[in-house]
Amino acid sequence: MNILLLGGGGREHALAWKFSQSKDCKSLFIGPGNAGTSAFGTNLALDPTDFHAVRKACLDNGIDMVVVGPEEPLVKGIVDYFLSDKSISHIPVIGPSASAARLEGSKAFSKQFMQRHGIPTADYKEFDADQFSEGSEYVKTHSLPVVLKADGLAAGKGVIICNSHIEAMAEFELMLQQDKFGEAGRRIVVEEFLDGIELSVFVLTDGDHYVLLPEAKDYKKIGEGDKGPNTGGMGAVSPVPFADNEFMLKVKERIVDPTITGLKADGIDYRGFIFIGLIKVNEEPMVIEYNCRLGDPETEVVIPRLKNDLVDLLKAVADKKLKEKIIEIDSRAAATMVAVSRGYPGSYEKGFPITGLDKKYGESLIFHSGTALIKDQIVTNGGRVLCVTSYAGSLQDAIRKSMAVLTQIDFDGMYFRRDIGYEFL
Ligand code: AMP
Ligand code: GLY
Repeated sequence: MNILLLGGGGREHALAWKFSQSKDCKSLFIGPGNAGTSAFGTNLALDPTDFHAVRKACLDNGIDMVVVGPEEPLVKGIVDYFLSDKSISHIPVIGPSASAARLEGSKAFSKQFMQRHGIPTADYKEFDADQFSEGSEYVKTHSLPVVLKADGLAAGKGVIICNSHIEAMAEFELMLQQDKFGEAGRRIVVEEFLDGIELSVFVLTDGDHYVLLPEAKDYKKIGEGDKGPNTGGMGAVSPVPFADNEFMLKVKERIVDPTITGLKADGIDYRGFIFIGLIKVNEEPMVIEYNCRLGDPETEVVIPRLKNDLVDLLKAVADKKLKEKIIEIDSRAAATMVAVSRGYPGSYEKGFPITGLDKKYGESLIFHSGTALIKDQIVTNGGRVLCVTSYAGSLQDAIRKSMAVLTQIDFDGMYFRRDIGYEFL
């Protein structure tokens, strides 16, 4: 089949790499892709949220399946758009409808969903601008730290953990009255702080059945020792040592099963990935957030550990035949480390040549995030530039291998965290 993959980051490079190994993938198109994805298919210069352009790309290239990497097209309704247009309604789009993507697109919606279906999560209350004074009173007397979350999509910046009431009240006002996050912050979820260790769980569902992909842990802060501002993710490891059988059984019974049955009970036909951000508090899993897609850079360790043919699995999702599939996981550990531009996650420059990419690195894979090909030279084109994933018998060795590869790659201002996986070593 001909596949169109939407997105242009490391997640999409890892997916393109995986699709290219499938007997079912005749040709692959990536919109817009990056310098790395072009090794596995044809990059198309399109914006994944420009649905007319996506439609045209499908018709021009005889596309049989669309796979959506990032959340924005899903939250904006790409699945609904395809279903409503006769010329493309036969093409399955892997990902949820806009209504289902509210699990990620609206924190208030996802909290209500969890409450309705008895899924363990932090206690919370939601407020909009009309409830400003009531909300201020609530924030002022909340136990510390208190967590404020913009309801809508805010590019990963919409969560603020406040350690004082003064800070919390100021942030509450900035969000509700000064439009700090624009439309996304006109409603706020105020929730209790959960103290524990985080874990990302990846579910693939056809609406009736689901399979679990390998779990992962990512490292969001820019600085070593989890210091400094949040980024999109600076590295990831899989497996996660504390996610043993006993813990994962709790995750399935208390979180994944009620999520899938809850979606059905609410009349939502969800076909695609669900990425559940969990936190382990006193040995018990609780949900921090849902995402309606795979994570980045988690995908760069999760997908390399998946032994199944991914196109075959996605066909089963489209045909509601996931029940027939059994997941096979590589027993090796995988670790990925992300190299970023100087200044990231603040402002940074682009266009620096990258060296060291053409060598062979054995059990390591290089996935591009922000790169571009300009006059036969691969140059930096984003904050997160590339990541190196390595396989090994232990997390420690996988991390060591990725670090060794990164010391042979260079671009002006390159930075990476050397302590990925530190809690497990
Ligand atoms: P989110 O955008 O919901 O993924 O939140 C970003 C990060 O904020 C999470 O990965 C957690 O590290 C942290 N976080 C969010 N909610 C809470 C909470 N209730 N307690 C502790 N940390 C949280
Ligand atoms: N790495 C976190 C995310 O993709 O949301």
